[in-house]
Amino acid sequence: MYILGIETSCDESAASIIKINKKEKDIKVLSNTISSQIDIHKKYGGVVPEVAAREHVFNILPTIKKSLKEANLNISDIDLISVTNGPGLITSLITGVETAKTLSYILKKPICGVDHIKGHLYSPFINNWKNIQFPAISLTVSGGHTDLILMESEKKYKIIGKTLDDAAGEAYDKAAKMMNLSYPGGPIIGTLAQGFVDLSLKKTIKPFPRPMIDSKDFNFSFSGLKTSLLYKLQKDKSWKEKKEEYCFFYQEAINDILIKKTLKAAEKYSAKSILLSGGVSANKDLRNKLTKKTSEKNLKLFLSKLQYTTDNATMIAVASIFEKKNKKKKKNWKKITAITTTYLR
Ligand code: KG4
Ligand code: ZN
Repeated sequence: MYILGIETSCDESAASIIKINKKEKDIKVLSNTISSQIDIHKKYGGVVPEVAAREHVFNILPTIKKSLKEANLNISDIDLISVTNGPGLITSLITGVETAKTLSYILKKPICGVDHIKGHLYSPFINNWKNIQFPAISLTVSGGHTDLILMESEKKYKIIGKTLDDAAGEAYDKAAKMMNLSYPGGPIIGTLAQGFVDLSLKKTIKPFPRPMIDSKDFNFSFSGLKTSLLYKLQKDKSWKEKKEEYCFFYQEAINDILIKKTLKAAEKYSAKSILLSGGVSANKDLRNKLTKKTSEKNLKLFLSKLQYTTDNATMIAVASIFEKKNKKKKKNWKKITAITTTYLR
């Protein structure tokens, strides 16, 4: 079975084709095509929704065509069209959703609407479907969400914790803005933090607070951390010469919080596997530390491959495998609409 995935929830127009064998739990990624708008939005320090929407209109059909070409398939070979229908920027989502609906109508192919966060949640399945054991705890960390999700089985899951204010990725992006670094903030802060380690620079500032790290629940809060950075920068006249150090301590605080809460959830729910996904899961320090901590505890860790951490359409195609509704009926295009909220509970 061939699935075409389409993703346009933010600033990436993406298409992907996967071939699946459900019995064998095997997923072959035939193409993972991304047309990124990062260079366009960089000059504004973040995503400008109107600009993103216009770029999606230009890019989506060439991206789908390129994806089909890379997979060596025709659109008529596709068995299911799977599209992100929320959450995200509504004017961005609409382009992907209307494109998918039009293809579904014209080609008489079934269509499946997929929650973007569900896409991230299933991204570690791309290479590990067979091996993931349940219960599993998933840490899904992106620019808009920070969720701890308990997966009791492949299809049964619930959110057990989430951020009460900013997402971890948002905390990176806002911190980068404060330090006049580029957008998106996560990768550049990660690189500067690594520079601090590699150059064995001297520690001159105090570590950042770790909000809610010991709270009894599994929720997160990152806005206090961001404010703490702002106050530190305001007080420190020489912060511009110490950007690496600020990035190091900021990243350390975020990763300490994420890792401690994930391990605590794993213990409480006797998890057999830990899954890590979302744009922030591209963070090297987070990947390395979680790998070390989980191996100390004999927990199996399944990381999203780097190319499936930030937004992509392969994860959307994969998540539709686990979608209960929407699948078979050929007229389902009538029911799919773009929405700004998540249905993940
Ligand atoms: O999943 P994603 O591509 O989009 C959303 O669904 O939000 O995540 C984007 C977020 C941005 O906030 C970006 O700064 C962060 O992921 N990010 C990183 C890294 N790469 C991307 N954060 C930390 N370290 C990275 N290497
Ligand atoms: Zn995302």
